[in-house]
Amino acid sequence: MREVHVVDHPLVQHKLTLMREAERTTKGFRQLLNEIGMLLAYEVTRDLKLEDVEIETPLTRMQAPKLAGKKLVFAPILRAGVGFVDGMLELVPSARIAHIGLYRDPKTLQAVEYYFKAPPDVAERLVIVLDPMLATGNSAVAAIDRLKERGCRDLRLVCLLAAPEGIAHVHGSHPEVPIWTAAIDSHLDAHGYIVPGLGDAGDRMFGTK
Ligand code: URA
Repeated sequence: MREVHVVDHPLVQHKLTLMREAERTTKGFRQLLNEIGMLLAYEVTRDLKLEDVEIETPLTRMQAPKLAGKKLVFAPILRAGVGFVDGMLELVPSARIAHIGLYRDPKTLQAVEYYFKAPPDVAERLVIVLDPMLATGNSAVAAIDRLKERGCRDLRLVCLLAAPEGIAHVHGSHPEVPIWTAAIDSHLDAHGYIVPGLGDAGDRMFGTK
């Protein structure tokens, strides 16, 4: 309960520092997010269940481990979550994708849903919610609420940066959902931005500001 995994792998920490730098180009930012996505996918899938199956090598038959159960689902919260998807699919190419369209009302900072499309049997799969910036936690909580309404029970959350406020909000509402993040920053500013943070992840990855 209330698990938070800070991924302190040197490659993740190095790439995160490059992403924080204000001068980083859109192309560089996107490329780094992709690369960190791949490394975070490695960490968040570390304990997936395996089952032995019989295979034939060029020399003999053997029992060898394969992933057990249904393919997992990556559930990016639009739009910044999309930046993680390609990197994660490099490692887990047969994963399914559930898009969750939420935007943050700039006045209330509340999450407003405008799109939801998931595999029909999403409730039977491990779902990994992708939200690069866990700020107030409103979007992550709303996304997990929606997934639970559709029956999902096996959920994990991956972000790039988390604010203590966001972690407290997610674990206040969904204490059993473990969180993976590359860093926990100091606090949120008056506009709900993570400090020191890296700015608006969506704008930086899509070049919209
Ligand atoms: N979303 C962002 O993209 N950046 C923040 O700092 C907070 C929310």
